Amino acid sequence: MNAPLKGLSVNAPPHVKNEKLIAWVSDMAALCKPDSVVWCDGSNEEYDRLCQQMVDAGTLQRLNPAKRPNSYLATSDVNDVARVEDRTYICSEKKEDAGPTNNWMAPAEMRATLQPLFDGCMKGRTMYVVPFSMGPLGSPIAHIGIELSDSPYVVVNMKIMTRMGKAVYDVLGADGEFVPCMHTVGAPLEPGQKDVSWPCNTTKYIVHYPETREIWSYGSGYGGNALLGKKCFALRIASNMGRDEGWLAEHMLILGVTNPQGKKYHVAAAFPSACGKTNFAMLIPPAGFEGWKVTTIGDDIAWIKPAADGKLRAINPEAGYFGVAPGTNTQTNPNCMASLDRDVIFTNVALTDDGDVWWEGMSEPPAHAIDWQGNDWTPAIAKETGAKAAHPNARFTVGAINNPALDDAWDDPKGVAIDAFIFGGRRSTTVPLVTEARNWVEGVYMAATMGSETTAAAAGKQGVVRRDPFAMLPFAGYNMSDYFQHWLDLGTRLAASGARLPKIYTTNWFRKGADGKFVWPGYGENMRVLKWMIDRIEGQAEGTEHVFGVSPRYEDLNWKGLAFSAEQFDTVTHIDKAAWQAELKLHAELFQQLSHHLPKELPETKAAIEQRLAA
Ligand code: GTP
Ligand code: SPV
Ligand code: MN
Repeated sequence: MNAPLKGLSVNAPPHVKNEKLIAWVSDMAALCKPDSVVWCDGSNEEYDRLCQQMVDAGTLQRLNPAKRPNSYLATSDVNDVARVEDRTYICSEKKEDAGPTNNWMAPAEMRATLQPLFDGCMKGRTMYVVPFSMGPLGSPIAHIGIELSDSPYVVVNMKIMTRMGKAVYDVLGADGEFVPCMHTVGAPLEPGQKDVSWPCNTTKYIVHYPETREIWSYGSGYGGNALLGKKCFALRIASNMGRDEGWLAEHMLILGVTNPQGKKYHVAAAFPSACGKTNFAMLIPPAGFEGWKVTTIGDDIAWIKPAADGKLRAINPEAGYFGVAPGTNTQTNPNCMASLDRDVIFTNVALTDDGDVWWEGMSEPPAHAIDWQGNDWTPAIAKETGAKAAHPNARFTVGAINNPALDDAWDDPKGVAIDAFIFGGRRSTTVPLVTEARNWVEGVYMAATMGSETTAAAAGKQGVVRRDPFAMLPFAGYNMSDYFQHWLDLGTRLAASGARLPKIYTTNWFRKGADGKFVWPGYGENMRVLKWMIDRIEGQAEGTEHVFGVSPRYEDLNWKGLAFSAEQFDTVTHIDKAAWQAELKLHAELFQQLSHHLPKELPETKAAIEQRLAA
């Protein structure tokens, strides 16, 4: 327990045998100068103790146990509500290894910048040592990280989001490898200074050194900025590991889908942030799909490795969901709502008068609530001022085991074999509901050129179309063109092994009609598209070939249980020649930006599309 620091002794408990780890913790304690160092064990007692401590400090509010057992609400600083992409850096030795889509600074220069910021950054606070495994403990696909953080909020979230705790040290042993993840909210306390409920700093740095596999995060306590196992490790650092070792770290959900005959398939889908991964991963098949079942392996990140049989096997490196609250309700995502019945940390949603939570799109608005900024909120106030009860990027943190649709194999160290990949953007126009790539290269082209409207998941302007290759724009930890090449190489390697390659699809659930509303009903109804994909894998569904792939005709989808006319279907599927000519100009701009190491297959595919479009 909180033993005061004497010199550089960090009082490592006897079960920690890794000298490199102990030396690193000592160095970091000497740099950050916390009042004390606590080695977390990941127990429920520790979780409860830290939550109580945060309730006492005003960081957390305990929700009404009759409504929402064992659950809490955290509300953040108004300037710390989302990932900060413009403050995120990939500090490789060479600028071209970070590539044109990442912020870059030379490692030595960044270290010199961060040193004075980290010096004394934990004064008056406790430094927690958080051991975690991304992936099932001891799995050959898993990797270990150790996060040092001065935020108890981070500790309890890491407990839900990862396999966190003492058992990690058994796997780590005396000389195992770990990714050092350094985190501070950047708000040291002077003696006697009163803390605030959400400490953070207006200066923020989310820094990765890919060559030395290090993460340094300064100034934010929110989500992907602070829970370093997630985007920083499992995507930006792991994408580098994957490139070097021949595997993939992707911004993908993984689901199992079982047909009425009992045959099971696995699909991995990359949608950009706040574009429907959690929803799709928990899908409940609608009326007309009796006997079909969808189960969740993961909702945000997939680690995918080629197995000896030439199949791609995927694991979810996470153990929980840090999901978007607004828009989630018992109609759009019943499995998600059931997951949230208990054991949840909510962040930046509204507090109702009966001690429960509410967010936009959850249910009928309450007559009164306290909004995420601590102000009174009523439907009348909302109408008058536009005030949101919940922040648009309000989130829940909940363990995977709460999900009623959890796949039996979600924790299987071997992972599941992937049958298809989906890449889907959020586009009001242009991009049709679903298209199948005719081959691997065409699929890589679709993924590489994907555009999507920006969302509240990242700080900055919302609703602007930007290229988001593979839904990895903010997460690829190295040069994007090298990443495309890595995908192409993998396809070549799998094909050479004689294995059947996963099919590749691109989807868009978000086309809007003249009235500005989504035309496609989405959510559970996305099953209609998923079934077409599965049938295509089996060679049992038709489609029509167009300029850049194969899409279903109206009669190729099962419409049982849904009134959706051929005209409506045309609105979400038709290909507008002029719009596509404009779209291809944006592909050209992207390729211009990514010209260094751009695989030649991509401009070749583009030229072929242009030719077909002109014909
Ligand atoms: P990250 O956690 O940020 O990576 O996001 P995610 O991809 O998991 O997004 P999520 O499933 O949480 O969905 C984000 C928002 O999109 C929510 O408000 C959903 O209600 C909405 N959404 C999800 N699926 C659909 C769909 O099929 N159609 C429409 N119109 N909206 C959807
Ligand atoms: C995303 O933004 O894609 C997320 C949320 O999944 S965060 O963990 O904050 O990055
Ligand atoms: Mn995500």
